[in-house]
Amino acid sequence: MSFEKEIQRRRTFGIISHPDAGKTTLTEKLLLFGGAIQEAGAVKNNKIKKGATSDFMEIERQRGISVATSVLAFIYKDKKINILDTPGHKDFAEDTFRTLTAVDSVIVVIDVAKGVEEQTEKLVEVCRMRNIPMIVFINKMDREGKDAFDLLDEVEQKLGLSVTPLSFPIGMGYDFKGIYNIYEKNINLFSGDSKKNIEDVIAFDNIEGPELEKIIGTKAAKDLRDNLELVHGVYPEFDRNEYLEGKLQPVFFGSALNNFGVRELLDCFIDIAPTPRPKKAEERLVNANEKEFTGFVFKIHANMDPKHRDRLAFIKIVSGTFERNTPYLHVRHNKSMKFSSPNAFFAEKKEIVDISYPGDIVGLHDTGNFKIGDTLTEGEILHYKGIPSFSPEHFRYINNADPLKSKQLFKGIDQLMDEGVAQLFTLEMNGRKVIGTVGALQYEVIQYRLEHEYGAKCTYENFPVYKACWVAPKDPKNDEFKEFKRVKQKFLAKDKTGQLVFLADSQFSLQMTQQKYPSVILKFTSEFE
Ligand code: G4P
Repeated sequence: MSFEKEIQRRRTFGIISHPDAGKTTLTEKLLLFGGAIQEAGAVKNNKIKKGATSDFMEIERQRGISVATSVLAFIYKDKKINILDTPGHKDFAEDTFRTLTAVDSVIVVIDVAKGVEEQTEKLVEVCRMRNIPMIVFINKMDREGKDAFDLLDEVEQKLGLSVTPLSFPIGMGYDFKGIYNIYEKNINLFSGDSKKNIEDVIAFDNIEGPELEKIIGTKAAKDLRDNLELVHGVYPEFDRNEYLEGKLQPVFFGSALNNFGVRELLDCFIDIAPTPRPKKAEERLVNANEKEFTGFVFKIHANMDPKHRDRLAFIKIVSGTFERNTPYLHVRHNKSMKFSSPNAFFAEKKEIVDISYPGDIVGLHDTGNFKIGDTLTEGEILHYKGIPSFSPEHFRYINNADPLKSKQLFKGIDQLMDEGVAQLFTLEMNGRKVIGTVGALQYEVIQYRLEHEYGAKCTYENFPVYKACWVAPKDPKNDEFKEFKRVKQKFLAKDKTGQLVFLADSQFSLQMTQQKYPSVILKFTSEFE
Protein backbone atom coordinates (compact mmCIF):
# COMPACT_ATOMS: atom_id res chain seq x y z
CA MET A 1 0.00 0.00 0.00
CA SER A 2 1.34 3.44 -0.85
CA PHE A 3 2.55 5.85 1.82
CA GLU A 4 -0.31 8.23 0.99
CA LYS A 5 -2.91 5.43 1.36
CA GLU A 6 -1.44 4.37 4.69
CA ILE A 7 -1.92 7.93 5.97
CA GLN A 8 -5.45 8.17 4.60
CA ARG A 9 -6.54 5.01 6.40
CA ARG A 10 -5.35 6.09 9.86
CA ARG A 11 -7.60 7.51 12.59
CA THR A 12 -5.93 8.29 15.91
CA PHE A 13 -8.19 9.44 18.69
CA GLY A 14 -8.89 9.49 22.41
CA ILE A 15 -12.08 8.88 24.37
CA ILE A 16 -12.63 11.39 27.14
CA SER A 17 -15.19 11.30 29.91
CA HIS A 18 -15.80 11.69 33.58
CA PRO A 19 -15.12 8.38 35.39
CA ASP A 20 -18.05 5.95 35.13
CA ALA A 21 -19.65 7.47 32.04
CA GLY A 22 -18.72 4.33 30.07
CA LYS A 23 -15.34 4.96 28.41
CA THR A 24 -14.00 1.47 29.09
CA THR A 25 -17.22 -0.19 27.96
CA LEU A 26 -17.31 1.82 24.75
CA THR A 27 -13.62 1.11 24.04
CA GLU A 28 -14.30 -2.57 24.44
CA LYS A 29 -17.25 -2.56 22.06
CA LEU A 30 -15.23 -0.67 19.47
CA LEU A 31 -12.52 -3.32 19.71
CA LEU A 32 -15.15 -6.04 19.26
CA PHE A 33 -16.18 -4.45 15.96
CA GLY A 34 -12.60 -4.51 14.84
CA GLY A 35 -12.42 -8.21 15.71
CA ALA A 36 -9.44 -7.26 17.84
CA ILE A 37 -10.88 -9.00 20.88
CA GLN A 38 -13.33 -11.87 20.97
CA GLU A 39 -15.24 -11.31 24.13
CA ALA A 40 -16.59 -8.65 26.42
CA GLY A 41 -14.56 -8.03 29.57
CA ALA A 42 -11.22 -8.18 27.78
CA VAL A 43 -10.45 -4.50 28.24
CA LYS A 44 -9.50 -3.82 31.84
CA ASN A 45 -10.71 -0.73 33.55
CA ASN A 46 -7.83 1.46 34.60
CA LYS A 47 -9.89 3.33 37.13
CA ILE A 48 -8.57 3.86 40.62
CA LYS A 49 -11.16 2.12 42.73
CA LYS A 50 -13.04 4.30 45.12
CA GLY A 51 -11.57 4.41 48.62
CA ALA A 52 -8.39 2.76 47.46
CA THR A 53 -6.29 5.88 47.23
CA SER A 54 -3.79 4.79 49.86
CA ASP A 55 -3.54 1.22 48.70
CA PHE A 56 -0.21 0.89 46.91
CA MET A 57 -1.17 -2.37 45.32
CA GLU A 58 -4.07 -0.53 43.76
CA ILE A 59 -1.69 2.04 42.32
CA GLU A 60 0.49 -0.72 40.90
CA ARG A 61 -2.53 -2.53 39.51
CA GLN A 62 -3.67 0.65 37.84
CA ARG A 63 -0.20 1.25 36.47
CA GLY A 64 -0.02 -2.27 35.08
CA ILE A 65 -3.31 -1.86 33.29
CA SER A 66 -2.45 1.53 31.97
CA VAL A 67 0.63 0.05 30.22
CA ALA A 68 -1.64 -2.48 28.55
CA THR A 69 -4.26 0.06 27.54
CA SER A 70 -2.00 2.98 26.59
CA VAL A 71 -2.71 2.40 22.92
CA LEU A 72 -5.35 0.05 21.56
CA ALA A 73 -5.20 -0.38 17.81
CA PHE A 74 -7.49 -2.28 15.49
CA ILE A 75 -8.54 -2.49 11.88
CA TYR A 76 -12.16 -1.79 10.91
CA LYS A 77 -13.36 -1.63 7.29
CA ASP A 78 -9.73 -1.34 6.26
CA LYS A 79 -9.11 1.69 8.51
CA LYS A 80 -6.30 1.52 11.04
CA ILE A 81 -7.75 2.89 14.25
CA ASN A 82 -5.54 3.89 17.18
CA ILE A 83 -7.29 4.63 20.48
CA LEU A 84 -5.08 6.44 22.98
CA ASP A 85 -5.97 5.87 26.60
CA THR A 86 -6.82 8.88 28.70
CA PRO A 87 -7.04 8.30 32.46
CA GLY A 88 -10.28 9.66 33.87
CA HIS A 89 -9.13 10.16 37.48
CA LYS A 90 -8.58 13.85 38.16
CA ASP A 91 -5.19 13.28 39.82
CA PHE A 92 -3.94 11.94 36.51
CA ALA A 93 -5.48 14.70 34.42
CA GLU A 94 -2.07 15.95 33.37
CA ASP A 95 -1.35 12.61 31.73
CA THR A 96 -4.59 12.97 29.82
CA PHE A 97 -3.81 16.55 28.76
CA ARG A 98 -0.49 15.38 27.33
CA THR A 99 -2.10 12.47 25.52
CA LEU A 100 -4.49 14.94 23.93
CA THR A 101 -1.49 16.48 22.13
CA ALA A 102 -1.10 13.17 20.27
CA VAL A 103 -4.70 12.60 19.14
CA ASP A 104 -6.23 13.83 15.91
CA SER A 105 -9.78 13.80 17.27
CA VAL A 106 -11.76 12.76 20.33
CA ILE A 107 -15.03 11.10 21.29
CA VAL A 108 -16.64 12.59 24.40
CA VAL A 109 -18.76 10.13 26.40
CA ILE A 110 -21.55 11.55 28.55
CA ASP A 111 -23.84 9.67 30.92
CA VAL A 112 -27.47 10.43 29.98
CA ALA A 113 -28.52 10.62 33.64
CA LYS A 114 -25.58 12.59 35.00
CA GLY A 115 -25.14 14.93 32.07
CA VAL A 116 -21.99 17.04 31.82
CA GLU A 117 -19.65 16.34 34.74
CA GLU A 118 -16.56 18.09 36.08
CA GLN A 119 -13.79 16.10 34.39
CA THR A 120 -15.59 16.26 31.06
CA GLU A 121 -15.71 20.04 31.32
CA LYS A 122 -11.97 20.33 31.96
CA LEU A 123 -10.95 17.93 29.22
CA VAL A 124 -13.30 19.35 26.62
CA GLU A 125 -11.97 22.82 27.37
CA VAL A 126 -8.47 21.67 26.45
CA CYS A 127 -9.77 20.13 23.21
CA ARG A 128 -11.69 23.28 22.42
CA MET A 129 -8.61 25.45 22.89
CA ARG A 130 -6.78 23.26 20.42
CA ASN A 131 -9.67 23.00 17.94
CA ILE A 132 -9.61 19.22 18.15
CA PRO A 133 -12.59 17.72 16.28
CA MET A 134 -15.02 16.13 18.75
CA ILE A 135 -17.92 13.70 18.46
CA VAL A 136 -20.23 13.43 21.48
CA PHE A 137 -21.68 10.05 22.51
CA ILE A 138 -24.57 10.16 24.98
CA ASN A 139 -24.40 6.81 26.77
CA LYS A 140 -26.68 4.64 28.91
CA MET A 141 -29.87 5.32 26.94
CA ASP A 142 -31.25 2.08 28.40
CA ARG A 143 -31.54 3.97 31.70
CA GLU A 144 -33.81 6.81 32.72
CA GLY A 145 -32.00 10.06 32.16
CA LYS A 146 -32.35 13.64 31.07
CA ASP A 147 -34.51 14.71 28.16
CA ALA A 148 -32.46 14.62 24.95
CA PHE A 149 -33.04 18.31 24.11
CA ASP A 150 -32.22 19.42 27.66
CA LEU A 151 -29.04 17.42 27.49
CA LEU A 152 -28.05 18.94 24.14
CA ASP A 153 -28.61 22.38 25.70
CA GLU A 154 -26.47 21.41 28.67
CA VAL A 155 -23.67 20.21 26.39
CA GLU A 156 -23.76 23.48 24.49
CA GLN A 157 -23.82 25.66 27.58
CA LYS A 158 -21.47 23.85 29.94
CA LEU A 159 -19.00 22.65 27.34
CA GLY A 160 -19.21 25.66 25.06
CA LEU A 161 -19.84 23.44 22.04
CA SER A 162 -22.05 23.90 19.04
CA VAL A 163 -23.79 20.59 18.51
CA THR A 164 -25.87 18.87 15.88
CA PRO A 165 -27.43 15.46 16.58
CA LEU A 166 -26.66 12.80 13.97
CA SER A 167 -28.89 10.30 15.70
CA PHE A 168 -31.92 10.69 17.93
CA PRO A 169 -33.32 8.38 20.60
CA ILE A 170 -36.82 6.93 20.43
CA GLY A 171 -37.87 6.91 24.09
CA MET A 172 -35.52 6.28 26.94
CA GLY A 173 -34.89 3.95 29.88
CA TYR A 174 -37.77 1.49 30.25
CA ASP A 175 -39.43 2.86 27.11
CA PHE A 176 -36.28 2.97 25.02
CA LYS A 177 -37.25 1.66 21.58
CA GLY A 178 -34.21 2.46 19.55
CA ILE A 179 -32.47 5.16 17.61
CA TYR A 180 -33.18 7.04 14.44
CA ASN A 181 -29.91 7.55 12.61
CA ILE A 182 -30.10 10.97 11.00
CA TYR A 183 -26.74 10.48 9.30
CA GLU A 184 -27.67 7.18 7.61
CA LYS A 185 -31.47 7.69 7.60
CA ASN A 186 -32.41 4.42 9.27
CA ILE A 187 -33.85 3.06 12.48
CA ASN A 188 -32.04 0.71 14.78
CA LEU A 189 -34.44 -1.07 17.13
CA PHE A 190 -33.33 -1.79 20.67
CA SER A 191 -33.81 -5.29 22.01
CA GLY A 192 -31.61 -5.04 25.08
CA ASP A 193 -29.58 -7.97 23.90
CA SER A 194 -25.90 -7.23 23.62
CA LYS A 195 -25.34 -9.99 21.08
CA LYS A 196 -27.78 -8.35 18.72
CA ASN A 197 -26.88 -8.56 15.05
CA ILE A 198 -26.10 -5.35 13.31
CA GLU A 199 -28.47 -6.31 10.46
CA ASP A 200 -31.42 -5.28 12.63
CA VAL A 201 -31.23 -1.82 11.14
CA ILE A 202 -34.26 -0.76 9.07
CA ALA A 203 -33.67 1.76 6.29
CA PHE A 204 -36.04 4.73 6.52
CA ASP A 205 -35.83 7.33 3.82
CA ASN A 206 -39.29 8.62 4.54
CA ILE A 207 -40.28 8.81 8.15
CA GLU A 208 -43.62 10.34 7.15
CA GLY A 209 -44.88 7.01 5.78
CA PRO A 210 -47.27 4.75 7.77
CA GLU A 211 -44.53 2.12 8.17
CA LEU A 212 -43.15 4.04 11.13
CA GLU A 213 -46.31 3.51 13.21
CA LYS A 214 -46.24 -0.21 12.50
CA ILE A 215 -42.71 -0.52 13.76
CA ILE A 216 -42.57 1.69 16.82
CA GLY A 217 -46.26 2.41 17.59
CA THR A 218 -48.42 5.50 17.16
CA LYS A 219 -47.21 7.58 20.06
CA ALA A 220 -43.50 6.92 19.55
CA ALA A 221 -43.91 7.63 15.82
CA LYS A 222 -45.54 10.98 16.50
CA ASP A 223 -42.93 11.91 19.11
CA LEU A 224 -40.10 10.96 16.78
CA ARG A 225 -41.51 13.03 13.90
CA ASP A 226 -41.98 16.02 16.23
CA ASN A 227 -38.51 15.64 17.65
CA LEU A 228 -36.87 15.36 14.26
CA GLU A 229 -38.74 18.44 13.08
CA LEU A 230 -37.37 20.31 16.07
CA VAL A 231 -33.86 18.96 15.43
CA HIS A 232 -33.99 20.23 11.83
CA GLY A 233 -35.40 23.56 12.96
CA VAL A 234 -32.96 24.23 15.78
CA TYR A 235 -29.65 22.60 14.91
CA PRO A 236 -27.42 23.34 11.95
CA GLU A 237 -26.97 20.87 9.12
CA PHE A 238 -23.88 18.71 9.68
CA ASP A 239 -20.88 20.13 7.86
CA ARG A 240 -17.71 18.06 7.87
CA ASN A 241 -15.39 21.03 7.47
CA GLU A 242 -16.89 22.74 10.47
CA TYR A 243 -16.47 19.55 12.47
CA LEU A 244 -12.84 19.26 11.35
CA GLU A 245 -12.17 22.85 12.36
CA GLY A 246 -13.61 22.17 15.82
CA LYS A 247 -16.59 24.48 15.22
CA LEU A 248 -19.39 21.88 15.14
CA GLN A 249 -19.77 18.71 17.19
CA PRO A 250 -22.02 15.88 15.99
CA VAL A 251 -23.87 13.95 18.70
CA PHE A 252 -24.81 10.25 18.83
CA PHE A 253 -26.99 8.43 21.36
CA GLY A 254 -26.64 4.82 22.46
CA SER A 255 -25.86 2.28 25.10
CA ALA A 256 -22.30 1.01 25.15
CA LEU A 257 -23.11 -1.80 27.57
CA ASN A 258 -25.74 -3.14 25.17
CA ASN A 259 -23.53 -2.49 22.16
CA PHE A 260 -26.29 -0.27 20.87
CA GLY A 261 -25.59 2.75 18.70
CA VAL A 262 -21.89 1.88 18.71
CA ARG A 263 -21.74 0.58 15.13
CA GLU A 264 -23.41 3.79 13.93
CA LEU A 265 -20.91 5.87 15.88
CA LEU A 266 -17.96 3.92 14.50
CA ASP A 267 -19.19 3.98 10.90
CA CYS A 268 -19.69 7.72 11.03
CA PHE A 269 -16.39 8.17 12.84
CA ILE A 270 -14.31 6.43 10.17
CA ASP A 271 -16.16 8.46 7.55
CA ILE A 272 -15.72 11.92 9.03
CA ALA A 273 -12.85 11.80 11.56
CA PRO A 274 -9.59 13.39 10.44
CA THR A 275 -6.60 11.50 9.10
CA PRO A 276 -3.32 12.45 10.86
CA ARG A 277 -3.33 16.22 11.13
CA PRO A 278 -0.42 18.61 10.57
CA LYS A 279 1.43 19.56 13.75
CA LYS A 280 3.08 22.81 14.74
CA ALA A 281 6.73 22.79 15.65
CA GLU A 282 8.48 25.92 16.92
CA GLU A 283 10.20 26.14 13.56
CA ARG A 284 7.34 25.32 11.15
CA LEU A 285 4.14 23.39 10.48
CA VAL A 286 4.81 19.74 9.62
CA ASN A 287 2.45 17.77 7.38
CA ALA A 288 1.82 14.05 7.74
CA ASN A 289 2.64 13.34 4.10
CA GLU A 290 6.16 14.74 4.27
CA LYS A 291 8.61 11.96 3.42
CA GLU A 292 11.04 12.51 6.31
CA PHE A 293 10.17 11.01 9.66
CA THR A 294 9.39 13.26 12.63
CA GLY A 295 7.69 12.42 15.91
CA PHE A 296 7.51 13.39 19.56
CA VAL A 297 7.30 11.77 22.99
CA PHE A 298 3.96 12.33 24.72
CA LYS A 299 4.12 9.70 27.41
CA ILE A 300 6.73 7.70 29.28
CA HIS A 301 5.91 4.58 31.15
CA ALA A 302 8.23 2.96 33.64
CA ASN A 303 8.81 -0.73 33.45
CA MET A 304 6.70 -2.65 35.90
CA ASP A 305 9.59 -4.87 36.83
CA PRO A 306 11.75 -2.91 39.29
CA LYS A 307 14.82 -5.04 38.41
CA HIS A 308 14.84 -3.68 34.88
CA ARG A 309 14.70 0.00 35.05
CA ASP A 310 14.01 0.58 31.40
CA ARG A 311 11.01 2.53 30.35
CA LEU A 312 8.74 2.73 27.37
CA ALA A 313 8.64 6.10 25.63
CA PHE A 314 5.52 6.58 23.49
CA ILE A 315 6.17 8.42 20.24
CA LYS A 316 3.46 9.83 18.01
CA ILE A 317 4.56 9.72 14.40
CA VAL A 318 3.77 13.07 12.83
CA SER A 319 5.32 12.64 9.37
CA GLY A 320 7.22 10.10 7.26
CA THR A 321 7.81 6.51 8.26
CA PHE A 322 9.50 5.30 11.39
CA GLU A 323 11.70 2.30 10.63
CA ARG A 324 13.38 -0.21 12.85
CA ASN A 325 17.20 -0.09 13.16
CA THR A 326 17.37 3.27 11.40
CA PRO A 327 19.32 6.17 12.94
CA TYR A 328 17.22 9.15 14.03
CA LEU A 329 18.19 12.42 15.63
CA HIS A 330 17.24 12.98 19.26
CA VAL A 331 17.00 16.75 18.90
CA ARG A 332 17.41 17.79 22.56
CA HIS A 333 20.54 15.64 23.00
CA ASN A 334 21.76 16.27 19.44
CA LYS A 335 22.47 12.57 19.31
CA SER A 336 21.79 9.87 16.76
CA MET A 337 19.84 6.88 18.05
CA LYS A 338 18.69 3.55 16.56
CA PHE A 339 15.93 1.35 17.88
CA SER A 340 16.15 -2.38 17.42
CA SER A 341 12.81 -3.31 18.93
CA PRO A 342 10.17 -0.60 18.54
CA ASN A 343 6.79 -1.76 19.80
CA ALA A 344 3.54 -1.31 17.94
CA PHE A 345 0.23 -1.90 19.62
CA PHE A 346 -2.55 -4.14 18.51
CA ALA A 347 -5.61 -4.52 20.74
CA GLU A 348 -4.16 -5.20 24.15
CA LYS A 349 -0.93 -6.71 22.84
CA LYS A 350 2.32 -5.12 21.80
CA GLU A 351 4.66 -6.46 19.15
CA ILE A 352 7.87 -5.45 17.39
CA VAL A 353 7.30 -3.64 14.11
CA ASP A 354 9.56 -2.79 11.18
CA ILE A 355 7.69 0.22 9.89
CA SER A 356 5.08 2.63 11.27
CA TYR A 357 3.18 5.48 9.64
CA PRO A 358 1.92 8.95 10.59
CA GLY A 359 -0.83 8.66 13.20
CA ASP A 360 0.72 5.51 14.67
CA ILE A 361 2.24 5.28 18.10
CA VAL A 362 5.45 3.37 18.70
CA GLY A 363 6.79 2.42 22.11
CA LEU A 364 10.57 2.70 22.39
CA HIS A 365 12.62 1.09 25.14
CA ASP A 366 14.49 3.81 26.93
CA THR A 367 17.04 3.84 29.70
CA GLY A 368 16.65 7.49 30.57
CA ASN A 369 17.30 9.34 27.30
CA PHE A 370 13.81 10.65 26.78
CA LYS A 371 11.55 13.06 28.49
CA ILE A 372 8.08 14.18 27.60
CA GLY A 373 8.05 16.59 24.69
CA ASP A 374 11.28 15.31 23.07
CA THR A 375 11.38 15.35 19.28
CA LEU A 376 12.94 12.73 16.96
CA THR A 377 13.71 13.54 13.31
CA GLU A 378 15.86 12.41 10.39
CA GLY A 379 18.24 15.29 11.06
CA GLU A 380 16.14 18.44 10.97
CA ILE A 381 16.19 20.61 14.09
CA LEU A 382 12.54 20.66 15.14
CA HIS A 383 10.84 21.19 18.47
CA TYR A 384 7.20 20.16 18.65
CA LYS A 385 5.03 22.62 20.48
CA GLY A 386 2.01 22.26 22.62
CA ILE A 387 3.06 19.73 25.27
CA PRO A 388 1.91 21.60 28.33
CA SER A 389 3.12 21.62 31.91
CA PHE A 390 0.27 22.79 34.07
CA SER A 391 0.62 24.82 37.17
CA PRO A 392 0.54 22.26 39.98
CA GLU A 393 -1.99 22.61 42.76
CA HIS A 394 -0.21 20.78 45.58
CA PHE A 395 3.27 21.56 46.86
CA ARG A 396 5.52 19.79 49.35
CA TYR A 397 9.19 19.95 50.29
CA ILE A 398 10.85 16.65 49.58
CA ASN A 399 13.48 15.48 52.10
CA ASN A 400 15.92 12.62 51.92
CA ALA A 401 15.10 10.08 54.63
CA ASP A 402 18.17 7.91 54.05
CA PRO A 403 21.40 9.93 53.68
CA LEU A 404 23.27 6.90 52.32
CA LYS A 405 20.93 6.76 49.37
CA SER A 406 20.98 10.35 48.17
CA LYS A 407 22.33 9.42 44.73
CA GLN A 408 19.47 6.97 44.23
CA LEU A 409 17.00 9.56 45.45
CA PHE A 410 18.14 12.19 42.97
CA LYS A 411 18.21 9.74 40.10
CA GLY A 412 14.73 8.53 41.00
CA ILE A 413 13.31 12.02 41.28
CA ASP A 414 14.94 12.99 38.01
CA GLN A 415 13.47 10.05 36.12
CA LEU A 416 10.02 10.31 37.65
CA MET A 417 9.90 14.00 36.68
CA ASP A 418 10.90 13.08 33.10
CA GLU A 419 7.98 10.67 33.07
CA GLY A 420 5.76 13.61 33.95
CA VAL A 421 4.57 12.21 37.29
CA ALA A 422 5.09 15.61 38.97
CA GLN A 423 7.21 18.76 38.69
CA LEU A 424 10.32 19.63 40.61
CA PHE A 425 11.15 23.18 41.69
CA THR A 426 14.39 24.33 43.28
CA LEU A 427 14.06 27.38 45.51
CA GLU A 428 16.33 30.26 44.50
CA MET A 429 16.88 31.27 48.11
CA ASN A 430 18.22 28.08 49.65
CA GLY A 431 18.26 25.37 46.97
CA ARG A 432 15.57 23.29 48.67
CA LYS A 433 13.56 20.98 46.44
CA VAL A 434 9.81 21.23 46.17
CA ILE A 435 7.56 18.75 44.39
CA GLY A 436 4.46 20.17 42.75
CA THR A 437 1.64 17.91 41.60
CA VAL A 438 -1.78 18.17 40.05
CA GLY A 439 -3.30 15.63 42.44
CA ALA A 440 -2.49 14.53 45.98
CA LEU A 441 -2.27 10.89 44.90
CA GLN A 442 1.01 11.52 43.10
CA TYR A 443 2.88 11.97 46.41
CA GLU A 444 2.09 8.40 47.35
CA VAL A 445 3.04 7.19 43.90
CA ILE A 446 6.41 9.00 44.10
CA GLN A 447 7.22 7.77 47.60
CA TYR A 448 6.28 4.20 46.73
CA ARG A 449 8.15 4.13 43.44
CA LEU A 450 11.29 5.79 44.85
CA GLU A 451 11.47 3.05 47.44
CA HIS A 452 10.62 0.10 45.20
CA GLU A 453 12.37 1.08 42.00
CA TYR A 454 15.31 3.15 43.24
CA GLY A 455 15.82 1.96 46.82
CA ALA A 456 15.52 5.51 48.16
CA LYS A 457 13.38 6.89 50.93
CA CYS A 458 11.79 10.32 51.14
CA THR A 459 9.61 12.30 53.48
CA TYR A 460 7.49 15.34 52.72
CA GLU A 461 6.95 18.60 54.52
CA ASN A 462 4.10 20.95 53.82
CA PHE A 463 4.88 23.98 51.71
CA PRO A 464 1.96 26.37 51.64
CA VAL A 465 1.83 27.63 48.10
CA TYR A 466 -1.31 28.62 46.23
CA LYS A 467 -0.01 28.42 42.65
CA ALA A 468 3.19 28.20 40.67
CA CYS A 469 3.37 30.57 37.69
CA TRP A 470 6.02 30.62 35.05
CA VAL A 471 7.65 34.05 34.78
CA ALA A 472 7.90 35.65 31.36
CA PRO A 473 9.24 39.22 31.60
CA LYS A 474 8.42 41.46 28.64
CA ASP A 475 11.93 42.86 29.01
CA PRO A 476 14.36 40.87 31.17
CA LYS A 477 16.63 43.92 31.42
CA ASN A 478 14.13 46.46 32.72
CA ASP A 479 14.17 47.78 36.29
CA GLU A 480 10.73 46.45 37.04
CA PHE A 481 11.88 42.88 36.45
CA LYS A 482 15.01 43.45 38.54
CA GLU A 483 12.90 44.78 41.38
CA PHE A 484 10.46 41.90 41.05
CA LYS A 485 13.33 39.43 41.39
CA ARG A 486 14.77 41.27 44.41
CA VAL A 487 11.51 41.75 46.31
CA LYS A 488 10.08 38.32 45.53
CA GLN A 489 13.30 36.37 45.96
CA LYS A 490 11.78 34.26 48.73
CA PHE A 491 9.06 33.10 46.33
CA LEU A 492 11.17 32.32 43.30
CA ALA A 493 12.29 28.92 42.09
CA LYS A 494 13.59 27.24 38.94
CA ASP A 495 11.79 24.38 37.29
CA LYS A 496 13.64 21.38 35.89
CA THR A 497 14.39 23.11 32.62
CA GLY A 498 15.77 26.19 34.37
CA GLN A 499 12.73 28.40 33.74
CA LEU A 500 11.95 30.91 36.46
CA VAL A 501 8.82 30.21 38.50
CA PHE A 502 6.95 32.43 40.96
CA LEU A 503 5.34 30.60 43.86
CA ALA A 504 2.41 32.68 45.03
CA ASP A 505 1.31 31.93 48.58
CA SER A 506 -2.25 33.18 48.07
CA GLN A 507 -4.61 34.36 45.38
CA PHE A 508 -4.37 37.82 46.89
CA SER A 509 -0.59 37.99 46.68
CA LEU A 510 -0.76 36.72 43.10
CA GLN A 511 -3.13 39.52 42.15
CA MET A 512 -1.06 42.15 43.97
CA THR A 513 2.10 40.96 42.25
CA GLN A 514 0.43 41.09 38.85
CA GLN A 515 -0.75 44.65 39.52
CA LYS A 516 2.57 45.85 40.85
CA TYR A 517 4.70 44.38 38.07
CA PRO A 518 2.56 44.56 34.93
CA SER A 519 5.51 43.93 32.61
CA VAL A 520 6.27 40.62 34.30
CA ILE A 521 3.83 38.17 32.75
CA LEU A 522 2.86 35.25 34.97
CA LYS A 523 1.70 32.13 33.12
CA PHE A 524 -0.23 29.12 34.34
CA THR A 525 1.23 26.71 31.83
CA SER A 526 4.86 26.48 30.80
CA GLU A 527 4.00 26.38 27.10
CA PHE A 528 4.54 29.88 25.81
CA GLU A 529 2.43 29.93 22.66
P1 G4P B 1 -15.49 4.51 32.64
O1 G4P B 1 -14.46 3.69 31.92
O2 G4P B 1 -15.91 5.73 31.90
O3 G4P B 1 -15.14 4.83 34.05
O4 G4P B 1 -16.84 3.65 32.72
P2 G4P B 1 -17.10 2.08 32.55
O5 G4P B 1 -17.06 1.71 31.12
O6 G4P B 1 -16.28 1.32 33.50
O7 G4P B 1 -18.64 2.05 32.99
C1 G4P B 1 -19.04 2.43 34.29
C2 G4P B 1 -20.28 1.64 34.67
O8 G4P B 1 -21.34 1.97 33.79
C3 G4P B 1 -20.09 0.14 34.58
O9 G4P B 1 -20.88 -0.46 35.59
C4 G4P B 1 -20.69 -0.19 33.23
O10 G4P B 1 -21.12 -1.52 33.14
C5 G4P B 1 -21.85 0.79 33.18
N1 G4P B 1 -22.28 1.10 31.82
C6 G4P B 1 -21.54 1.43 30.74
N2 G4P B 1 -22.31 1.65 29.66
C7 G4P B 1 -23.58 1.46 30.05
C8 G4P B 1 -24.83 1.52 29.37
O11 G4P B 1 -24.95 1.78 28.19
N3 G4P B 1 -25.94 1.26 30.13
C9 G4P B 1 -25.88 0.93 31.45
N4 G4P B 1 -27.01 0.68 32.08
N5 G4P B 1 -24.70 0.86 32.12
C10 G4P B 1 -23.57 1.12 31.43
P3 G4P B 1 -20.31 -0.86 37.00
O12 G4P B 1 -21.41 -1.51 37.73
O13 G4P B 1 -19.64 0.31 37.65
O14 G4P B 1 -19.16 -1.82 36.66
P4 G4P B 1 -19.22 -3.31 36.22
O15 G4P B 1 -19.22 -4.03 37.52
O16 G4P B 1 -20.47 -3.51 35.41
O17 G4P B 1 -17.98 -3.49 35.45
